[in-house]
Amino acid sequence: MVPTVEWKDGVVRLLDQSRLPTQVEFLDCRDYRAVAQAIRELKVRGAPAIGVTAAMGVALGAHGVAASDYDAFAKAVGEICDHLAASRPTAVNLFWAIARMKRKMATLKTQPIPQIKAELVRESQAILDEDIALCKAMGTEGAHVIGDGQTVLTHCNAGALATAGYGTALGVIRAAWEQGKKIHVIADETRPVLQGARLTAWELMQDKIPVTLITDNMAGSLMRQGKIQVCVVGADRIAANGDVANKIGTYSVAVLARAHGIPFYVAAPYSTIDLATKTGADIPIEERNPLEVTSIHGSHPVAPEGVAVYNPAFDVTPAEFVTGIITERGIFKPGDLAGVFGAERPAG
Ligand code: MRU
Repeated sequence: MVPTVEWKDGVVRLLDQSRLPTQVEFLDCRDYRAVAQAIRELKVRGAPAIGVTAAMGVALGAHGVAASDYDAFAKAVGEICDHLAASRPTAVNLFWAIARMKRKMATLKTQPIPQIKAELVRESQAILDEDIALCKAMGTEGAHVIGDGQTVLTHCNAGALATAGYGTALGVIRAAWEQGKKIHVIADETRPVLQGARLTAWELMQDKIPVTLITDNMAGSLMRQGKIQVCVVGADRIAANGDVANKIGTYSVAVLARAHGIPFYVAAPYSTIDLATKTGADIPIEERNPLEVTSIHGSHPVAPEGVAVYNPAFDVTPAEFVTGIITERGIFKPGDLAGVFGAERPAG
């Protein structure tokens, strides 16, 4: 797989996901504002990838700060962090990564500014490397939930594209495939931005993992016909009680899975678990441009001009519908997360 995000010769290079699957193009962000804009415009998307990109945005922004004393430098970097944090509200990995960069900066207070700048680049690279390792660990821990010969449904894109590499939900699927299991993936197309059709189908085809694309409204019928044995999705934020925010439509899949007795798993690293947020009701849900609903790619209208539109980008699946949360440390019941991950509460 081509890298989702990387630090390349002093720029943040992103695979422009808004152009997939028809064009594989890279976007070089030369300042932190361009990084924030790329996050806002879904050129990079998926909770862990957003976190890694924001961390690199902080490092990039810090490089451009001219201050020579720590307090002035820290103030300017704080403003850069605020700008990046305002790009999208739901995925907690964004805030987790920015908070980690700020903590790193504070530990370097006594160092010369050029050294702090270099260390911030290193920290963002460490976040990227850790993200890939976390995904691989989730794959190892979770692959057994998909049996040989089974068909697994996934929603949105929680793959290599949504992370620094390998993926969360698709990491689990990839690991099962790498173990030699003959599995098949059903990818929901994921209206309105089509992450399933454009990204998951593309990513799995790149790796030659068998995939069939369906529209979102077909999942229930396939479940009823016994064509799906397990569901695995990603998450943007998991509250302390185990409620899961993920791409809009995830809740419908979870309810359908429950109605048909199909296990429903969520794969996510510790950086997605937000113990500071008590329940799903407290998770901010992003509302996006109505054009995403009324047109394809903003240019081909599919609805009458002027129609009222509601376009929440995420929904919350109550913990009771989640069979298990696959993490880098093992699979847990949603209600057990607070006990297990208490020490790594994402700050900020
Ligand atoms: O709006 P997006 O494309 O950023 O939404 C992405 C999702 O909802 C993913 O399922 C989630 O971030 C998990 S990615 C490993």
